Formats: sequence, structure tokens, C-alpha cells
Amino acid sequence: MLEVRNLSKTFGNKQIFSNYHLLIPEGQIIAIVGQSGGGKTTLLRILAGLETIDAGELLYNGESMSIDELEKRNLLGFVFQDFQLFPHLSVLENLTLSPIKTMGMTKEAAEKKAAGLLEKLGLANHAHAYPFSLSGGQKQRVALARAMMIDPEIIGYDEPTSALDPELRKEVEQLILKNRETGITQIVVTHDMQFAENIADQIIKIEPKH
Ligand SMILES: Nc1ncnc2c1ncn2[C@@H]1O[C@H](COP(=O)(O)OP(=O)(O)O)[C@@H](O)[C@H]1O
Ligand SMILES: [Mg+2]
Repeated sequence: MLEVRNLSKTFGNKQIFSNYHLLIPEGQIIAIVGQSGGGKTTLLRILAGLETIDAGELLYNGESMSIDELEKRNLLGFVFQDFQLFPHLSVLENLTLSPIKTMGMTKEAAEKKAAGLLEKLGLANHAHAYPFSLSGGQKQRVALARAMMIDPEIIGYDEPTSALDPELRKEVEQLILKNRETGITQIVVTHDMQFAENIADQIIKIEPKH
């Protein structure tokens, strides 16, 4: 269970969250919906330890965690909007770069883990391909595999369908629903209400403050 208590966050003089509360039960799919500018991406970045907060408390299974600890614990694996794969690196290198550089994983261990994830996601034949040669759906799965390299307890997806053709939406739905069977917690940010309804155990709305 991930809990956000009394979260406040401003950018300059723009208040994004004030005394915001959120409960994310384990193993569920939580969809976060709402108009652009509401703070959905910011919330995911906070939970990944990539963004500071002004006030509030983040608890994981009842244990209070600082933003630094959140990042170190690799609690949340981030599937970035538009995937953000490194164009000059192969699929395999996209997966292994950060675990080797920032987590001290050996090259051998990282490549072994990456190969297993690529196999699981039907990408084994693309390990040495470069992102430009992949379809949107394949890039999406590479981004997911990359997020899973750190063995996160939560996967956060930022607008996972926004860069895909509409017919690929079903594929992403199935991917997320299949992950659910592994017991992993998933937070899916989207502005697509239908998509949210198709996948989510719970839908949470975040609207811009005026
Ligand atoms: N690094 C930043 N510096 C200043 N303003 C930011 C920054 N990141 C986000 N914002 C602002 O915070 C608000 C919420 O942004 P965001 O979390 O990206 O919303 P959403 O993902 O719901 O569209 C927006 O008004 C955005 O312009
Ligand atoms: Mg966003």
C-alpha cells in the first residue's frame, strides 16, 4: 500500500497540489485521469523520486519515505510518455544502461535480466535493433521492459496510449491486464476515460486548479 498524505507542490507561484491525499492499494490498477496540466505527470515523478515536494508525507506499507529513499528503493518503474528510448542505443542497451551505471549491476547480470524480459514481452528478436526500426507497440513494450529492469513494486505509465495508433490501445490494455496477474501494482496516467474504464480497479481524477 502506497499512501500520500497532505501533499503540497508548487512550481513558481503555481500550486499543483495542496493537502492532497492518495491511497494506492497493492496489486491494483489505478488510473489517474484528468485534463492536461492537472499534475498527473508530476504525481508520477514524485512517486518515482524524480521530483521534490513542498510538504507532505509518502508512506510505503506504513513506512515513511523521503523522496531520496523512494528513488533509491526503486519503488516505481517509470514508463515515460512517448517512451523516451535512447535513439542511439540498441534495445538491449536501452534496458541495461541505467542498471549498470546507477545500480551497479554487472553487464552480464543486466544483459541476462534484459534478455529474460525481452523474451517475456515477445521482443527477443529485437534485442539488437535500434528504436527507429520498431513499431509503436514494440517501443511501448521496450519502455515497459526498461521500467521492469529495476524490479519495481509499482509500474507507473505516463499516457501509455498517447503515442500509439488507436488500434494498438487494446494491445496496451492487454499488456497492463496481464501484468496485473503477477501481483504488481500499476498506476496508469491517461486522459482517455474509456481506456481507464477498461483497465482500472479504481479511477482517480486530478483536475487543474484555476
Ligand atoms: N518542471 C516544471 N517547472 C515548472 N512548471 C511545471 C514543471 N513541470 C510541470 N509544471 C507545470 O505543472 C502543471 C502540471 O503539470 P503536469 O504534471 O505535467 O500535468 P499533466 O501531466 O496532468 O498534464 C502544469 O501547469 C505544468 O506547466
Ligand atoms: Mg502529463
